[in-house]
Amino acid sequence: MLSVAAQIINGKMLAQAIRAELHMQVAALQAKGVCPGLSVFLVGDDPASALYVKNKHKACESVGVFSEEHRLPAMVSQEELVNLVLAANANAKIHGILVQLPLPSHIDKRMILETIAVEKDVDGFHPHNMGGLLQGNSCAVACTPKGVVKMIESTGVPIAGKRVVVVGRSQIVGKPAAMLLLERHATVTICHSRTQDLAGQCREADILVVAAGKAKMIDATMVKPGAIVIDVGMNLVDAGFVGDVDFEAVSKIAGWISPVPGGVGPMTIAMLLENTIEAAVRAAKRGM
Ligand code: GUN
Repeated sequence: MLSVAAQIINGKMLAQAIRAELHMQVAALQAKGVCPGLSVFLVGDDPASALYVKNKHKACESVGVFSEEHRLPAMVSQEELVNLVLAANANAKIHGILVQLPLPSHIDKRMILETIAVEKDVDGFHPHNMGGLLQGNSCAVACTPKGVVKMIESTGVPIAGKRVVVVGRSQIVGKPAAMLLLERHATVTICHSRTQDLAGQCREADILVVAAGKAKMIDATMVKPGAIVIDVGMNLVDAGFVGDVDFEAVSKIAGWISPVPGGVGPMTIAMLLENTIEAAVRAAKRGM
C-alpha cells in the first residue's frame, strides 16, 4: 500500500499569524494609553531555560509588549524571590508575571507560584487558575496546552466526540491539555509511565498529544492511520533537538503531525503574549 504523507501543522506559521494580530491589538491599546507589560524571573543558569526566556523577550519586543527580566543566581533565597514577585504584583506597569520553571530544589515552587497575583498569572499555574480550569472559568490557561488546542483546531477537524490520548501527566502540559480537550467534548485518556499497553492506548487515539519528555518514544506502530499527532517534546540528542515522536516514521501514518522544532514551541510563546495582553485589557477595565 502506498503511504500518504501527513499534513504538517506548522506551529511557526500559525504563531506568526497570531503575533501579527496581537501586534495590531497592542497598537490599538497603546493608542488608549495601555502598554502591556511582562515580568520574567529566571533563577540559575540552566541553558534551556535561558534560551526559552530569551525567546520570550524577543517575542514581546516584536509585538510591542514591554518586558523586563530578573536574572537571579541559583542560590537566591526563597524570601528574596518572594519579595521580588510581590514587587512585580504591586507594579502597575506589569500585567503578567512568569517564573521560569524548573526552580532550584531549595525553593518551594508551589509557594512561589501562589505568590504571583492571580490576575497577573500569565502561565495559568496559580492554584486558583488551575482550579478555574476544572470549572471552565480561569483568568489564564497555561500557554503550551492552549497552543496545543489551537493547533488541533487549525486542522478543521472537530474535537467533540473524538478519542484523545494525552501521553504525560505534568502540571504544565498533560493535565491542563486533557482538561481543555475534555471541555471541548473529547473523550480523553491520560497515559503515563505506569500505563499498561501504552501502544494499544495510543493506537485508539484520533488525536494524540505527546508530552512525556522522551526522545522519539512514539513510533509508527503506536499511531492510528489518519490521526492528529501533536508533539510537545523537546529533547536534546546528539543530532540536535528532537520531539517525543519519531517524526519520519509517524508522518507516513498520521493525517496531521506537528514538527519539532517549529511546532508547539512558537505557539507557546504566542499564547504567552496573548495571555499578557488579555491581562492588560482586564487591568485596564478594572481601572488600573
Ligand atoms: N518551563 C517549561 N515550560 C514552561 C512554561 O510554560 N512556563 C514556565 N514558567 N516555565 C516553563
